Amino acid sequence: MALAVGIIPCMILRIVLLGNYEERSVAEKSAQIQNQCTILGNQLISSGYLEGKTSEVVDAELTQLSNIYSGRVMIVDGQFEIIKDTYDMDERKILASQSIIECFKGKGTSHYDGKNQYIEVTVPVMDQEAQNVLGVILASVSTDSIADSLEVYREKANIMLMTIVLILLIVVAFCSGKMMRPFHRLSDAIDAVTEGYDSGKIEENQYSETEKISESVNKMLVRWKKVDDSRQEFVSNVSHELKTPLTSMKVLADSLLAQGDVPAELYKEFMEDITEEIEREDKIINDLLSLVKMDKTSANTMNVTSENINELVEKCLKRLQPIAAKANIELVLESFRPVSAEVDEMKFSQAVTNLVENAIKYNKENGFVHVSLNADHKYFYLKVEDSGIGIPEDAIDHIFERFYRVDKSHSREIGGTGLGLAIARGAVIMHRGAIKVYSEPGEGTTFTVRIPLTYVA
Ligand SMILES: Nc1ncnc2c1ncn2[C@@H]1O[C@H](COP(=O)(O)OP(=O)(O)OP(=O)(O)O)[C@@H](O)[C@H]1O
Ligand SMILES: [Mg+2]
Repeated sequence: MALAVGIIPCMILRIVLLGNYEERSVAEKSAQIQNQCTILGNQLISSGYLEGKTSEVVDAELTQLSNIYSGRVMIVDGQFEIIKDTYDMDERKILASQSIIECFKGKGTSHYDGKNQYIEVTVPVMDQEAQNVLGVILASVSTDSIADSLEVYREKANIMLMTIVLILLIVVAFCSGKMMRPFHRLSDAIDAVTEGYDSGKIEENQYSETEKISESVNKMLVRWKKVDDSRQEFVSNVSHELKTPLTSMKVLADSLLAQGDVPAELYKEFMEDITEEIEREDKIINDLLSLVKMDKTSANTMNVTSENINELVEKCLKRLQPIAAKANIELVLESFRPVSAEVDEMKFSQAVTNLVENAIKYNKENGFVHVSLNADHKYFYLKVEDSGIGIPEDAIDHIFERFYRVDKSHSREIGGTGLGLAIARGAVIMHRGAIKVYSEPGEGTTFTVRIPLTYVA
């Protein structure tokens, strides 16, 4: 591209200059010959050559003229008869060519034949008063010398053009190499980060383009690092949570084995504890499996059927009623209207159960849990309101994260893993719904869920 931009003007210049040179040289030569012929014409008149007189001076002049210009000179009289031809070929013949006729009208002509390389000039021979045309001098002169010098110039121009092309090539190669260098450095830096040799930031600020790319890559790196961190945290959380019940079981079993004679009562108590830990382990594994299934979100993992939502919610509450009763917590359902919607029964029940279970678990003695169900023409709304301990403001943004628990020691006592809300949120989102939380620490918490009545795949 840059090469074309450089070469095209050079070629145009070459054509124009050489053309100009040819035109000027021809014009100059024509004018010279015309001049010489006019002088000769005056001598012809003064010597009476046209009337048939011989003149050595004129003859010598004619020979000289044809020699200098390596051409042919003819003199034509008023009867169109050639009275002198320096080539001695056509004397006494009649010559009435277009240019001769034209010239007899009083004006000389000049014609250049570039193909055969000659100039033909006619000059009128006027009488002494410069009134009448008495004869015509016709000179045809070769332009070989012009063609020769043109050829020389053309060669020189070609050499120059080639030199310019060469210089341009070198300059283009050099400049493009220099211009591309920041991009090469940038790509090397990205490669280094990708292959893990370098974990730092990418900084290539020579051009605004490379600066922008660097910024975008850095932003991507930050996000990538976040994802990587959360993945690592997830794995370490999973291992930790799975290990805790196993450790407890081992401690219980070891202490049984260490004692020789274990009373049947103690044996039974320890076995009950071990069973509890197994149940705990089982719950964590099931929760994890639910989450993994939700991660692979696709329409075919959803088993959507049209369900009576009032009945579904009631069933969930019935199952949790004994736990609520244990802490003397009032658990009530308020249905504003019959609701039927397209949901995955399993996933939806899981969400409801987790929300209500939390409302009971993080409640106070003699507290309440109010569940309400309502709908409009597009969505149904589920609200779970409790009179519990509430969630501190700085924790509210994190409660849907996997393994997040507000008060780790307290939650441990109550027996949670921090997966319940992550599962509930995942289930709601799979229904194209939304879940929100409002909480007042010490007063209570309200979760609201909105799900479309018809499922959109
Ligand atoms: N209704 C609530 N009132 C107060 N705190 C809540 C309530 N619901 C959830 N939380 C807080 O959010 C944390 C996360 O809840 P989540 O249900 O995800 O985990 P969990 O109940 O601790 O364990 P899991 O449900 O897996 O058995 C809880 O540990 C608790 O601190
Ligand atoms: Mg929970």
